[in-house]
Amino acid sequence: MSSEKIRRITVLGAGVMGHSIAQVAAGAGYNVTIRDIAQEYNDGARNRIESGLKRNVERGRTTEEAAQDLLDHLSYTLDLVEAVRDADLVVEAIPERLELKKQVWGEVAAAANEDAVLTTNTSSLSITEIGKAVSHPERFLGMHFFNPPTYMRLVEVIPGAETDSGTVETVKAVAKKLGKTPVVVKKDVVGFIVNRVLITYLNEAAKIVESGKWTVRQVDSAMQHQAKMPLGPFMLSDLIGIDIVYHILKVFEENLGKEYAPAETIEKCYNEKKLGRKTGQGFYDYAERPSVSEEEGEEFDINLLLEPMFTEAEKVVAEGIADKESVDTAMKLGANLPMGPFEWKEAK
Ligand SMILES: NC(=O)c1ccc[n+]([C@@H]2O[C@H](COP(=O)([O-])OP(=O)(O)OC[C@H]3O[C@@H](n4cnc5c(N)ncnc54)[C@H](O)[C@@H]3O)[C@@H](O)[C@H]2O)c1
Repeated sequence: MSSEKIRRITVLGAGVMGHSIAQVAAGAGYNVTIRDIAQEYNDGARNRIESGLKRNVERGRTTEEAAQDLLDHLSYTLDLVEAVRDADLVVEAIPERLELKKQVWGEVAAAANEDAVLTTNTSSLSITEIGKAVSHPERFLGMHFFNPPTYMRLVEVIPGAETDSGTVETVKAVAKKLGKTPVVVKKDVVGFIVNRVLITYLNEAAKIVESGKWTVRQVDSAMQHQAKMPLGPFMLSDLIGIDIVYHILKVFEENLGKEYAPAETIEKCYNEKKLGRKTGQGFYDYAERPSVSEEEGEEFDINLLLEPMFTEAEKVVAEGIADKESVDTAMKLGANLPMGPFEWKEAK
């Protein structure tokens, strides 16, 4: 289906990602249906969207009319068939479990129109593998938003082995209409571009601290103040959630090799349920908002971490996952880096 024909979008899953993707799509003028499995989740999404919009109106970021218009473009249901029957595009944002996704996709593909475009927001599962549950898998691909979708500008577009080029073009056009920058991931390899480079970098930071020469605060200070990252790697791990970082690294370990195994400190935090901001403790204690001064990291050479990041980015290019420009764009828009790895290397 061409992008001009897409009017109705259905989002499956009303959680962290789903409610926010739905908000973006409704704000871009699409008629959006949200489907979760229990009323409390749909109500939760509604509350989050409404309170977020209320704040935006109070802060002058949007008008009351625009907020109301967005809400008028949203509807909610618990019924899967009703949700997808008339959808032109489906975005699935349900939990990251292959068997669950395959089961739901089997049901969705049977109930949706044959020409509906079907997408998954999976972070770490194989698009081709999920696509096996979909009839006509040429219309199925990965549409990977970043958290929070209302703010993050990148969408990774990942064709599976069966996806046709028309579907890729349609999803790129829709992503642009949502105000996002699509970057096509040429190969369906775990981690795509951003998570592959970013999560590996977080793991490298932990290994550097484990070497005993540097502290968490020194590394974070240097990466924040010298390398101009929005947050140092440990504060970022705490923000993402150490469970999420850990699980992605385990998937990398299984698929890419043992050098991607979670660093000991990440594994320890995971086992002790110190998962970062959401549990109040991770690499930092969140009783108070942590911060690091510029002086703390003066001794640390940021190249110790930027070099491995660059090496990983080079692997992404060498493996045919993306070209250098796409990697740079993806890392800037999907990880908020001030510069892409290749731009950094060039500027050095
Ligand atoms: N959280 C992130 O930072 C992030 C970023 C990018 C991609 N993702 C991916 O997005 C997906 C969703 O992640 P999340 O963080 O929003 O999870 P979440 O747990 O916050 O939300 C998932 C929602 O799906 C609902 N659900 C379960 N089964 C369902 C079904 N059969 N139909 C409809 N809804 C169902 C759950 O009730 C829940 O509300 C995952 O694949 C994840 O890997 C997450």
